[in-house]
Order: sequence, then C-alpha cells, then structure tokens
Amino acid sequence: MTEVRPETVTARSMGTSLDRVDGAEKVTGQAAYAADQHPAETPGRPLSLWLVQSTVARGRVLTIDDTAALDHPGVVAVIDHTSAPRLVDVSNGELAILQDDRIGFRGQIVALVLAESVEAAREGARLVEVVEEPQEFEAELREDNATYRPEKVNPAKETDTETGDVDAGLAEAEILVEATYRTAYEHNSPMEPHATTAWWGRDEDGAETLTLFDSTQGVHGVANALAPMLGVEKHQVRVMAPYVGGGFGSKGEAHAHVMATVLAARVASGRPVRLAVTRQQMFDLTGYRTATISHFRLGARADGTLTAIEHEAQEQTSRLREFAEQTASPTRMMYAAPHRRTSHRLAVLDVAVPSWMRAPGEMPGMFAHEVAMDELAQACRLDPIELRRRNEPAVDPETGLPFDSRRLMDCFDRGADRFGWTPGPRRPGTRRDGEWWVGTGVASATYPAMRMPGNVARVGSLGEGRYRVSIGAVDIGTGARTVLTQIAADALGVEASCIDLRIADTALPMATVAGGSSGTSSWGSTIVAAAQRFRADHGAEPAAGLRAEASAVRGDEAERFSFHSFGAVFAEVRVHRYTGELRVPRLLGVYNVGRVINPRTARSQFLGGLVMGLSAALFEESMRDPRFGHVVTRDLATYHVASHADVQGVEAEWLDDETPTFTPMGSRGIGEIGIVGTAAAVANAAHDATGVRIREIPVTADRFVR
Ligand code: MOS
Repeated sequence: MTEVRPETVTARSMGTSLDRVDGAEKVTGQAAYAADQHPAETPGRPLSLWLVQSTVARGRVLTIDDTAALDHPGVVAVIDHTSAPRLVDVSNGELAILQDDRIGFRGQIVALVLAESVEAAREGARLVEVVEEPQEFEAELREDNATYRPEKVNPAKETDTETGDVDAGLAEAEILVEATYRTAYEHNSPMEPHATTAWWGRDEDGAETLTLFDSTQGVHGVANALAPMLGVEKHQVRVMAPYVGGGFGSKGEAHAHVMATVLAARVASGRPVRLAVTRQQMFDLTGYRTATISHFRLGARADGTLTAIEHEAQEQTSRLREFAEQTASPTRMMYAAPHRRTSHRLAVLDVAVPSWMRAPGEMPGMFAHEVAMDELAQACRLDPIELRRRNEPAVDPETGLPFDSRRLMDCFDRGADRFGWTPGPRRPGTRRDGEWWVGTGVASATYPAMRMPGNVARVGSLGEGRYRVSIGAVDIGTGARTVLTQIAADALGVEASCIDLRIADTALPMATVAGGSSGTSSWGSTIVAAAQRFRADHGAEPAAGLRAEASAVRGDEAERFSFHSFGAVFAEVRVHRYTGELRVPRLLGVYNVGRVINPRTARSQFLGGLVMGLSAALFEESMRDPRFGHVVTRDLATYHVASHADVQGVEAEWLDDETPTFTPMGSRGIGEIGIVGTAAAVANAAHDATGVRIREIPVTADRFVR
C-alpha cells in the first residue's frame, strides 16, 4: 500500500451544487435498499425473519415451545438459544444473541422465526411460547445510581479532567451559576428502518462466504464486527449498502438484528434471509441516546469573565455492553477559564445498549452548557453574545494548541446581522404579540473535526478521460456519493461527469464509518491521495486499464493545531400565554466549518441538524417505564418528531472558509454540528419570551402554564 500525503486540491467542482448523482434512482424508485434485495445467484427466494423478544427486563428463558409455530404451514424453522449456531467470540454482549438463556433487557431477541413469507414469520413468532423466569432488575437512571466511573468515554476520551483548581476558581467568582440540566432519552428514528438481507455460500475454493445487504453507515465495520464472532476471516464476509435511508448514528455499528439475520441464514441452506426491523422494534434494540443529567457550576467575575467551569455528567449504560456518552467533552474546549473540571458517571442498567445519535456528547452537553451561559449572561446583565465574546479562548483550553480556524464570533456577528438581533441584556417577559409571548435566544455550536486513519482508495483509468474511483464508503443520504465524485474530479482535474464512483461494498478498499462527521474528510482525503498517486504514476493522459491505490497520511498538523468547527444558532420563540404552546417561527444557524464542498447537500445537512435540534427541544422523548423496563413510546405517533407544521423559518448559512491544514479539500465535516446548541437556543428564547427558565428538554407546554 502506498501512503501519500495529499496536496491541497484546487476547487473546480467543489463549491458548486452538483445535483445528487443518485438523485434520479431515488426519486424514481429504482434505488434498491437492504430489504429490497433479491439476489439472483442464491438458491431460492428470500426467506423472511421475525424476532421473538423477551417480555421481562432481566431473567432467564426457561422453556421455548415451538410446536404451534412449526405447525404453521409457512414456518420453516424456529431458532432459540438451544439451537442457534454457536459464536466463537461472545465478548460483545449486544451482538452475541441466542448463545445462552440469559435475558439482559426487555425486548431482547430470545428466538427467531424463519418463514416463506413475512406474514407467516410474524404469525409464527406469535405462536412461539416462551416461558421466562424474571429476576430483579434496574432500568431507571437517577442521580443516586449513576455512580459508576467508566474507563473512557466515547470515542476513547478521558472520563474525568481537571485543570487548575476549580474550588479556588469558584471561590473567587463574583457571580455563580449552579444548576442541573436534563436531556431526554431519544431514539434516532431514521426514515428507513434497519434491515438486512443475508446468505451463506461457498467461493470457488470451497471456502464459506457470507454476503449481506445491510442498512449500515459502514460496510467494513459490519464485516469487522461479524467475522471474528462467526469464526471466519473478514474477506469471507461481504457487506453491501448501496442505499441507506438515514442512520443518525443508529446504523454506525451493527446491532443484534444483523447477527439474528446472519444466524438464521446459517440454517437456511444458502437461501437468503431478510429481516426488516419494524419501527416499534427500533425502539427496543437498534440504539438510542441515553438521557443525561448535567450538573453545572460556572464561576465568573462581574464582567462575565469565567473563573471556573465545572460539568459533572450522569447518564446510563447497559449491563450487556458499555457505552459512555462524552457529554462533558465540549465543556473542555469551548470557553476560556483558568479552572475547569469535567466528569462522567454512569448508571449500569438492565436496558438495551445506548449508542451514537447525531452529535453524541456535544448535543446533550452543549444544551446544558449553553443554557448555563444564558443564565450567566442574565446574572451579569450582559448580552449573551457579548458574554461569549468575553470568554473566547486564545488557544484550545483542553490541549493548549491553537485552533486552526475558530471563527465563532464571526458566526455570531453575521448571524446577529442576518437575524436582526437586538444587542444588550435580555429583558425576559417583556414582548407580547396578542396572545403570544415573544423572545429570542442564542447558543453556540461546536463539533470536532475528525479524520479517521486506515482508509484506502483506488483510481483506475477507463480511457477517453474517464476514471473509476473506488472506496468502501457509504452514502446514508447525506450526499457523500455526490461530494466524493466532486472531490475525485477536482483531484484528477476532470469534469465530475468523467468520474465513475464505486462505494458501499467491502469488495472495495477499506473505508471507515459514515460517522463523527468524518466521512467526507477521511474518504475524500484518501481519494485525493489515490488520485495524486495515479497522476504521479501514469500522467495526465493515461491509457485505459491503469491503476493506483493509496492511503492518505497526515503530517504533524494534529500536534500543531486543534481542529473544531463552530456555529452560532439564533431562535425566535413564541409561547402562548394561555396554553403554553411553543412555536419557533425562526431558526438560523451560521457555521464555520471549512470549505463547503456542495452547497446544496451541505445546506440540507445543516437544515436537517437544525430541525433535529428543534425536534429535540420541543418533542423528542422516549418514555421508559422503570417498573417494566421497556420503552413505552414505541412508534412515531407517541415518540414525536418535528413535522412540517412545526418547522417554520429555518435557515442555514456558512462563512467563506477553507482549512487546507485539515484536509486537502479544505473541508472539515458538517453532518452533526447543526443539532448542537439548537435546543439551547430554543430554551433560551423561551426564557426570554416568558421569564421561565427551562433546564430540561423537551420543553413542553405544561412548563409555562401556571
Ligand atoms: Mo454519527 S452519531 O457519529 O453517526
């Protein structure tokens, strides 16, 4: 493998709103998603799979009677822990299903029903009789049980940090804001439910093969997770994800349903097995964001200058597998303060494993931090934007490194202008329009810029100036296919129409997950490396059939700079004086994210993030019943997400910017920052409207009715 340190690419296609290269397939219904696959080379039609789930939160499976299910004419097999194929590695407690009789959460997979039709599979699952022995369990996050200190928080960050002397910093403060903030459990709820089609076969040498069409954010990641558990080599597992209807992090790693499909396929004699997870089942076992509790203490001088910041986060993990959301991590780098302490403590519960949801850590953490800053601005009688200006750090407070581009205040200034922000301290509860209280609020946004190592790209000449560019990346609806085409075109110095981009298949070179807003940065830099390698090897007018493959290496920039993106969010909120109904007529985000590669798809990412933040602010809340351990809100009728009527004026713009130190494209990643700070801006605006301080999302109407 050649390692190339890619050089900066001149933007030609980059920066233009190239139409989505897969737009036509999608709008005409030609795009085949994971549950649409009907592989022709397999023996027989796909079998359908249905999950049988536990009804207790902790316990043991005593007996499973499959007699009635097997009597059903459409049912082919019932698989439980006594009959499921054995895994060779069961260390991943979420994926190692049906290996023993233990039940770790309510809704866990305890049996599988394979049938000739989806209706027969579902009916068969109803006919399986499971007798469970319930045991004592705990499924409620509370301040008094979130005491476990994880070794690391996602992704491999320090659990606790302290710089300076926080107690001394608080003691010298003239103003103290001390408050507790809460965010709700949330379920990712992408448009396309999770789905997998899988089958086993043999290659020409007789070695076993496993093939999957999976709705995933990372094909290589799924193969890497499954292969060692199944006792096969990674190259024996092929995963494809040609189209994915969103993920928001819930498809960032394989969940148990993928293993269920693979185990069922083992007993299906080469026939493909298809599992389409239902919307309700997604609330049981395909990931969610933990609720969080953030205890904040901000100490400041009378002029608003911070003397100390303390953020103690409490949240939950699952007894089956540890996941620790990095809720306090943005507090480590956001504002200047000589003294700072952050920590994370978890309740270890008998619940499904929490996982990534758009801006894990930054989203709940910045809700707390940015409402606390609004409270501090109020206490100091300061314009909340001015408060942030007074606490701009000269360097990254966490690392001591200079930010390569931190234009937070430029975002605020431009946003204030565009939004029509009235400078000065807020005067809560003083503006009314008929029956509506009216207020405005702001919050900062931040998200780290990440580039993942280990990516490889291949460039091949097709003749007549055309090129095939291959990398096993996934487009989950973000527009990755389109922007990677643009990056490849510019790196090769050709028109975008000359690029035949191949992605979404582990048969293509290694690519990391579409997550952490790192996809375009990681894959794009690698494509640039391969393109520059190709040109160096084969020149500007290559014959057909020539190739180059490369990975991108970085210099020492990461030791010299701190790479983060920033944004300023503005919200106007109206609260009805009699009903407490809350409306958001205007929402604006202004971002500092490096070069925007495709304004059309980027705008869609920002707007989507803002809408998701609005949705979190007003609606999203998964209700878990601690008496039974399950999520009660198991559909989109009871788990509310913002709909068209809720989203009124939402706008996003960005600074003209590029950061060639971070990627050769000058870009930094944009998928997550739109959700960060947005809920705080809404809550702060609601306070400005009514004088009622809300320290918890969702901000529901009842909180304003007195
Ligand atoms: Mo994102 S939550 O890292 O897929």
